[in-house]
Order: sequence, then C-alpha cells, then structure tokens
Amino acid sequence: MRRLVAETHVHARQLILPMFVREGLAEPRPIASMPGVQQHTVDSLRRAAVEAAEAGIGGVMLFGVPQVRDAVGSAADDPEGILNVATRAVAEEVGDALVVQTDLCLDEFTDHGHCGVLDQRGAVDNDATLERYRAMAIAQAEAGSALLGLSGMMDGQVAAVRETLDAAGHTDTAILAYAAKYASAFYGPFREAVDSQLTGDRRSYQQDPANRREGRYEARLDLAEGADVLMVKPAMSYLDVLADVAAESPVPVWAYQVSGEAAMIEAAAANGWIDRQRAIEESVISIRRAGADAVLSYFAVEIAGWLR
Ligand code: PBG
Repeated sequence: MRRLVAETHVHARQLILPMFVREGLAEPRPIASMPGVQQHTVDSLRRAAVEAAEAGIGGVMLFGVPQVRDAVGSAADDPEGILNVATRAVAEEVGDALVVQTDLCLDEFTDHGHCGVLDQRGAVDNDATLERYRAMAIAQAEAGSALLGLSGMMDGQVAAVRETLDAAGHTDTAILAYAAKYASAFYGPFREAVDSQLTGDRRSYQQDPANRREGRYEARLDLAEGADVLMVKPAMSYLDVLADVAAESPVPVWAYQVSGEAAMIEAAAANGWIDRQRAIEESVISIRRAGADAVLSYFAVEIAGWLR
C-alpha cells in the first residue's frame, strides 16, 4: 500500500556520480574523509565509469586533480590536462550509456585554490575568470563532455560559455549551471579529494547560507543566460531553495548531495548511530521530494544497486 501511494520515487537514471581523477597516480588512492570514494587513475576511472553505466545511473561528473598548479590554472584548458584526458577516455569508453559531465571551475587547477584568477589585490577577478572559463569550455567540449558543470559562481559565466561554445560550433554541448551555490562547510571532504590549495574561503563569490530569495534570483539569472539545467548545492540544508527553484523552473533542476553530507552519514553509520542504507535512501528521496529531477550523489551506484 505504501509503495502504491508513494508520491516520490527514485530511479537509477536520476542519479549522477561525481568522480575524481588524479594525474600521475599508479594506483587509485582512497580519500580518507570520503569512505568508498577514490582518486582514480585514468584507467580505474574508465573501469568505474563502465560499472556506473552497467548500474544504470544517468551520468557521471568528472573532477580533475592536476600534478602542477599555477596562478591561472593552465592545466584546466590544456587538451593534455588530466581532466580533459580523462574525459576523452571516459567518453570514448561509455559512449551514450552515460551523460559524461565535467566540472568547469578553476579551483582544482590554481595554486591558490580559488575558483577564479586573482587581481593585483588578491581578490577574485570576475571578468578575467570568464576568459579562462571560455577556454576551459572549448577544451572540455572537444574532449567529449556533453554537459559542462559551471560551478565557479562568477557573474555572467553561463552567457560567456554559451557564446563561446556556439561560436566554436559546439551548439550541442549543454550547460549545467550551479545556479544557487552556497559558501558551505559541507564541502570539507571535497577539499581533500582534490588536494585543494585554498586558504580562506569563497564568500566573495558563493552565496550566504542566510539567503533564500537570492537562490531563486541566481537561478533566474542563469536561466536567462542560457542554462540547460539548474543546480542547487549543497542539497540537504537547502531544500527550501531547491523547492523554490523547482517550482518555477522551465528546465530540469538538480541538486548536489555534497561530500560533507555523505561524510556525516558515513561517520554516524560507522559509529552505529544511524542505519546507513535507510539514511542514504531517506536523504535522496527527500532531495527528490523537494523538487530535484536528478541528484548528484557519491552513493549513486550503490543506490542503483539497492533499487534493482
Ligand atoms: C568547485 C566545486 C566544489 C565542489 C564541487 N565543485 C568545491 C567548492 O566550491 O568549494 C564541492 C563538492 C562536494 O563537496 O562534494 N569546483
């Protein structure tokens, strides 16, 4: 009876797995604060992507960890940069079985760890960063990414990338706009996952957790600039923002269950304080119930297994 009257369902195809690939690794390396998640080699990434496709999930979101970083994140738009190499490998391997997506942001590639380039004063330079994002977009589209995840929170990033893609003939490459992205403590374990060089925080470009209306406003701006999908991030602490955006969005709205959200579940479960599977299932159904059409989750493949 409960199944028959359930208002919300989770399907494997609505789940997207974030994955990390690190340059210069001989073996995949575990990430201590993210049990079960690894920094992959290009080869292990390719194999894990095949497993994800076999599990029936909808897509993967790739993050690169380069060996060499500099002030402008040169490895980000280098066709031989780790993320672009890995994207080519995965796209070639899985074809249309998964939507291959890439994080389009500079923080993994800069030696200061910020999502953009810095000006003389050391502040993030919004418009200079857009030029870097344009170059990254071309490199990622050419590597075979179908959906570019613009997570840097620079103003005008969606319009800039759309214009550049179209001018280069990449009219079919779509844009996932991290429309409402909050400056969150829940990104903690991700910093380990990408060996982040960041000191300080991202409060000059990511949103204040206190602001709900602003989330809807940011989503409207990205939509007007040409976003194909809107993202709300993190997920669980922002279900109100997610519901607001989903209520008025004409395009799909996704939410990202981020590293710290997963870590809290893992840590509590490891202590025997909560039932791990039930907590994961409840978290994802809640995110769907609030309005997410699809969910990025480190548990994506595991959940797909339970759904079988
Ligand atoms: C930026 C980016 C971040 C995450 C995804 N993309 C880090 C940040 O904004 O500080 C965090 C994801 C997670 O915590 O799982 N490239």
